[in-house]
Amino acid sequence: MTALLDIKGLTIDIARDTGPARVVDGIDLVVNEGESLGIVGESGCGKSLTMLSLVGLLPNRIKATGGTAQFGGADLLKMSPRELRKLRGAEIGFIFQDPMTSLNPVMRIGDQIAEALIYQTGMAKPAALTRAGELLELVGIPSPRDRLMSYPHELSGGMRQRVMIAIGLAGSPRLLIADEPTTALDVTIQAQIVDLVRELKDRLNMAVVWITHDLALIAGLADRIAVLYAGTVVEDAPVSTIFEKPSHPYTRGLLGSLPTLTDQPMSRLPSIGGTPPEPGRRPPGCPFAPRCALAIAACSAAVPRLTAVPGSDPRHRVACIVTTGQSEAAA
Ligand SMILES: Nc1ncnc2c1ncn2[C@@H]1O[C@H](COP(=O)(O)OP(=O)(O)O)[C@@H](O)[C@H]1O
Ligand SMILES: [Mg+2]
Repeated sequence: MTALLDIKGLTIDIARDTGPARVVDGIDLVVNEGESLGIVGESGCGKSLTMLSLVGLLPNRIKATGGTAQFGGADLLKMSPRELRKLRGAEIGFIFQDPMTSLNPVMRIGDQIAEALIYQTGMAKPAALTRAGELLELVGIPSPRDRLMSYPHELSGGMRQRVMIAIGLAGSPRLLIADEPTTALDVTIQAQIVDLVRELKDRLNMAVVWITHDLALIAGLADRIAVLYAGTVVEDAPVSTIFEKPSHPYTRGLLGSLPTLTDQPMSRLPSIGGTPPEPGRRPPGCPFAPRCALAIAACSAAVPRLTAVPGSDPRHRVACIVTTGQSEAAA
């Protein structure tokens, strides 16, 4: 398998009056061509900032301060704003959480998609509108040609999210990044959107990174799952391995708190007490140790590195000295 995106040692700092606060602390992540990677973790663990850093969209005062992110032979972190602007949409498409704030309320759907196409491909307006209709059809919007004339408020939340996907796909990207795109939608519609993206990924042979705090939601879409905690990857494995043989105590906590079908989706993890560390206030050693039922003294001594899990899938890696037996070796 060929790596499409290869992130190594990514660090992101927030400039504060008191000095820089580290929020992403050495993330390693690979996305292969045509692969779908699910990224899960509680709110505030650095999922969005990691993705925004790749395309030069970090907020003011927040900067990628270390590491590399190879994409198609170039380091995204070294590209100029102009190069990144060309890449966005054309090579890397984005879908965000809230289509109501991301879509322009006073502009017809067709014009918004056409605008993205004109910007990304330079095609003329009539051709862009035709293509916009095709894209609406691709994302399963009924009577797509008529819908070109609609305004966002005339569509349901699920249909607006489909329009956002159409815009994300406009430039035929090789990588689609979806940042909690269904959080605002009801559970049935969320599942439909996940199904749609899975189908499009296969049809268009595109890689997908899907960010969520809901492991159950992406079980059917992701080939592989990376679990983030406090700005680091704590576990990375094929999706079936994550569900059948989770190794990191944090991953096990996330799975223990999977909502049942009748529950409301949860953003909180009732089975894990405490809260993640604030940026700049991570404890020494393993950042999860203060909340971890299995923690021993050695956990606070050094940051654990991602290592292969003995006896598991060769792609299964975890950053925990207790569950991989390294603590015994150290003792
Ligand atoms: N615009 C911002 N200004 C200051 N701090 C921010 C900003 N955006 C994010 N942060 C900080 O970075 C942390 C990680 O943010 P984010 O990547 O958005 O988390 P996630 O997407 O995992 O919920 C947040 O908890 C917050 O402390
Ligand atoms: Mg986020």
